[in-house]
Amino acid sequence: MVRHFTDLSDAGGDVIAAMINDAQDRKAARAEWPRGRPDEDQPLQGRVLAMIFEKSSTRTRASFDMAMRQLGGSAMVMESGTMQLGRGETIADTARVLSRMVDAIMIRTDDHAKIEEMARHATVPVINGLSDRSHPCQIVADLLTVIERGKALPGLEVAWLGDGNNVLHSFLEAAALMKFNVRIGTPAGYEPETEFVDMARAAGCVVTQTRDAAEAATGADVVVTDTWISMGQDHAEEKLAAMAPYRVTSELMAKARGDALFLHCLPAHIGEEVTAEVFEGPQSVVFDEAENRIHAQKSVLLWCFGLV
Ligand code: CP
Ligand code: NVA
Repeated sequence: MVRHFTDLSDAGGDVIAAMINDAQDRKAARAEWPRGRPDEDQPLQGRVLAMIFEKSSTRTRASFDMAMRQLGGSAMVMESGTMQLGRGETIADTARVLSRMVDAIMIRTDDHAKIEEMARHATVPVINGLSDRSHPCQIVADLLTVIERGKALPGLEVAWLGDGNNVLHSFLEAAALMKFNVRIGTPAGYEPETEFVDMARAAGCVVTQTRDAAEAATGADVVVTDTWISMGQDHAEEKLAAMAPYRVTSELMAKARGDALFLHCLPAHIGEEVTAEVFEGPQSVVFDEAENRIHAQKSVLLWCFGLV
């Protein structure tokens, strides 16, 4: 069976815990090394990852490339606009061709069904590098960031403020797998898909949905937000206005626990979803979170190759 990572549930809770352990060990082992030097064991020596981008990326692109280098392999970037995929070649044929040429495929796209289609036709692992539905690779990095700050996942109180988007969906899926609780503060009409809320609740998690940002933040261990306008969405003034009460401010952070962390997957829009004071403040771990994309993506890759 080929191991695809289209969503967190493909791996499951025990595997995600193992991935985070592996990421911590590998991160510690190379702490002062030059970033491009391979890990001692070079477990993916000779392996090549193709990265298909139908949307922009800084972190996902750089972290998967560096992850492959550190594991002893290499990566190639394929922008869909310069691929035959962008001229109508099918996902199925692209998957079958790349499966004959490379060892794994990472794809960032809009419609999640394209990732599932790629996984159906590929004979090498397919990794979801973000879709309109979910962003599982980000969440492995986020959980690693929370754990390395000394917080245990079971029973953790995570507050999400703002848009009920792809990143929140993956947080809810992670909650179901790792048994933490999620307090969601969103304006009417911008809630997450009920499927993800139901998934977390069915797993025994407490998921609170409120219109009151302060209520969502109160007592939280971790406060998370994301851009109000995701890639592919129109820049709508109406949406920005609806989101304004959910901006993460110092006043809102003060409702959370004193040792609460602030997370943001980036890119951030200072003055929109978060103030400069919070973003640059002592509770913000956003750049650890960004760096941890490398360490997390290494574990995702190793799992896909049967090595975690
Ligand atoms: N957080 C994240 O996925 O960033 P990029 O869009 O830069 O890859
Ligand atoms: N929700 C954002 C995440 C970017 C990493 C988007 O989809 O654009």
